[in-house]
Amino acid sequence: MKGLILSGGKGTRLYPLTYTRAKQLIPVANKPVLVRVIEAIRDGGVTEIGIVIGQTGPEIRELIGNGDRWGVQVSYIEQPEALGLAHAVKIAQDFLGEDRFVMFLGDNVIQGGISSLISDFANNDWNSQIVLKRVKDPRAFGVAELNADGSIKQLIEKPQHPPSDLALVGIYMFDHHIFEAVNTIQPSKRGELEITDAIQWLIEHRYQVYPHIHEGWWIDTGKPIDMLEANSHVLEEIKPTVAPDAIIENSEIDARVTIERGAKILNSVIRGPTIIGEDTTIIDSYVGPFTSLYHHVTIENCEIERSIVLEHSTITHLPQRLQDSLIGRNAKVTCAEGKPKALKMNLGDYSNVWIV
Ligand code: TTP
Repeated sequence: MKGLILSGGKGTRLYPLTYTRAKQLIPVANKPVLVRVIEAIRDGGVTEIGIVIGQTGPEIRELIGNGDRWGVQVSYIEQPEALGLAHAVKIAQDFLGEDRFVMFLGDNVIQGGISSLISDFANNDWNSQIVLKRVKDPRAFGVAELNADGSIKQLIEKPQHPPSDLALVGIYMFDHHIFEAVNTIQPSKRGELEITDAIQWLIEHRYQVYPHIHEGWWIDTGKPIDMLEANSHVLEEIKPTVAPDAIIENSEIDARVTIERGAKILNSVIRGPTIIGEDTTIIDSYVGPFTSLYHHVTIENCEIERSIVLEHSTITHLPQRLQDSLIGRNAKVTCAEGKPKALKMNLGDYSNVWIV
């Protein structure tokens, strides 16, 4: 089997962070989501992986390279415009050939990995396997309606009146028949070749599409709130470690805290699950649960909780706790001394600030 990861797209819902960075490279618990996807596919025994890239391709190539670091062989497939998930499959036909493959959206995180799904597909003669998850509001997703025997009756993309609460999760498995579908279907109203339409085509042409209902959590990290939720879930599951060279002085650190190389924690309280990145410094501060501080971050005389802070950012002397926040790279958040007592901001396009 081969792997296909979709890492094109614009990531508009994560502006301003995704003006300057591919959304799949934003870290969750200090590891880029795309790396988590590569590891999940590799752990299922699939090592030949194609990554579909768009405008942010150079940055993705720079980090992932030929995949050696993760024990996989990576090929890149250029998609000049994000014309839909089924379009990405279409342009990957030369790479995939006649092989069965697993396709994983490069911004999705799923509990428990996909090893058992991969082996189920490898050990059956289904033409496709899709993953479904019960969600509160299915209107934003591709939705599946099942027959009484559990087989799929139909799939509908973003229905106004969903026939069920079963949403399509961003993990799919196919054999080569999917190319007949993606080469036949027409773009949807929003101008994209929809994977939901391609799978519906398989069903209508009597190919066997097996629906697996996923019981754990699954997150599509499309929006900032989803990033924070994925971060919380992953932090709950990682096994905490403390790097031997970390400097910890006069601080209270609970058991569920991971501390990476070169981190320095002075006169502070850290409550897990939390991860403190390489060469990050925390002084006279409180870092609460569900926080990921990436590398070279400085936190001084502050309280921060349930947040993600990216590399080289500095947060100092805040009068109130910072919470539920997503802070990009090289950002500075501080409380200035002196008068006038006013808010001063220098924000990128599409930034959000909440003052209470
Ligand atoms: P989406 O989240 O549907 O699209 P997007 O990345 O453009 O985000 P936004 O809606 O915020 O602008 O994409 C899901 C994943 O699939 C994501 O990793 C990008 C990737 N993708 C492609 O590689 N090619 C495509 O044509 C599309 C639509 C998405």
